[in-house]
Amino acid sequence: MGYQAKFRVWRGDASAGDLRDYTVEVNEGEVVLDIIHRIQATLAADLAVRWNCKAGKCGSCSAEINGHPRLMCMTRMSTFAEDETVTVAPLRTFPVIRDLVTDVSFNYTKAREIPSFTPPPGLAPGEYRMKQADVERSQEFRKCIECFLCQNTCHVIRDHEENEEAFAGPRYLMRIAELEMHPLDTADRRDAAQDEFGLGLCNITKCCTDVCPEDIHITDNALIPMKERVVGKRYDPIVWLGNRLFRR
Ligand code: SF4
Ligand code: F3S
Ligand code: FES
Repeated sequence: MGYQAKFRVWRGDASAGDLRDYTVEVNEGEVVLDIIHRIQATLAADLAVRWNCKAGKCGSCSAEINGHPRLMCMTRMSTFAEDETVTVAPLRTFPVIRDLVTDVSFNYTKAREIPSFTPPPGLAPGEYRMKQADVERSQEFRKCIECFLCQNTCHVIRDHEENEEAFAGPRYLMRIAELEMHPLDTADRRDAAQDEFGLGLCNITKCCTDVCPEDIHITDNALIPMKERVVGKRYDPIVWLGNRLFRR
């Protein structure tokens, strides 16, 4: 059975904005994105929203729903009581372009800064051979749909814009971990992770992991192992001695 829901949707642009109220029909089985589309179709034709797959796979429809960073297309209306007001706002960490659409280019900038996969010299694509056991952990990271919910949620930049330069965020620290764990990657990414991409700023609060719609264990499987590798390199007495003797 359908019902009338109360929605509050943030409307505005980079200069100003506020929450606007809409009363809108909800039908059985619908998700928040369906309702946003109905508002767009019947009440506010100029409402800006980014989406693409409506299947939790493209990572476009991230928003803050009743204060929780989530995908609109994967948030069922049955999550809420029928008399509950559902508030939908844009991701807080990234600059608003208009309404629910934010400028997420920060993430693409960080992605570009990471040195790419570096196979051994002479090994061409098509010649890569690896054991499944050696790529099992990093395959989990490949499930990422780049929704940027983790990037939006991590307090290191959410509450401290000034850290943006020095911190790549959980998604891209995970990418560095993925490459570092890759059996064919020859680059040593440990110093860069710490010094250029801000691994040390992560204090393992795990908020990134909590919001990941792909259920990737970002903190336990990528960030903590990466921190251990950095510590292992920097404080390994043999490495230390080697550095003292040969890298003067
Ligand atoms: Fe989204 Fe998870 Fe990828 Fe972060 S790691 S961008 S939360 S899918
Ligand atoms: Fe941020 Fe995740 Fe670390 S939320 S502090 S990157 S564990
Ligand atoms: Fe693609 Fe929601 S529309 S993840």
